[in-house]
Amino acid sequence: MLWLKAFHVIFMVTWFAGLFYLPRLYVYHASASDQPGRQRFKIMERKLFVMMTIGATFTTLFGVWMLVAVPGYLKMGWLHAKLTFVIALFAYHAWCYRLLVDFRNDANRHDERWYRLFNEVPSILLIAIVILVVVKPF
Ligand code: HEM
Repeated sequence: MLWLKAFHVIFMVTWFAGLFYLPRLYVYHASASDQPGRQRFKIMERKLFVMMTIGATFTTLFGVWMLVAVPGYLKMGWLHAKLTFVIALFAYHAWCYRLLVDFRNDANRHDERWYRLFNEVPSILLIAIVILVVVKPF
């Protein structure tokens, strides 16, 4: 069980490295005007997205494995709240993919400021999830 939790947390850190940095790349990409610079951003974004998707997959795999190993978790209120935030995180991840495709097609529709705000969302979800899972307030 502790091994599962350790790998769950390790992959969660990998996932969040991408969730924090990919929108930051979008901030710079949105204001890049030269063609070689844009091409470089596209490659970096694609590679980072692959890495964070691997992180998301294994975080989920080890998380679900813990739920199967200890069915009692499913009766706990904090876990339900946590999973609701995790679903929001999946939606954010999918949204990042949509934006990546827009950039790839040179069809970005947002400015730098919008990406700076967008970049704040994973921090809020991280704070909520970690407090729920560690403090277990209900
Ligand atoms: C489908 C997704 C997920 C499932 C099913 C899941 C499930 C679980 C379960 C059952 C535990 C053990 C809780 C305990 O023993 O107290 C756990 C621990 C943990 N989870 Fe998740 N989790 C998921 C996603 C996430 C995400 C996205 C994050 C971070 C944002 C996260 C952060 C943590 C942390 C930090 C712990 C260790 C808490 C501790 O024992 O101190 N989990 N998770």
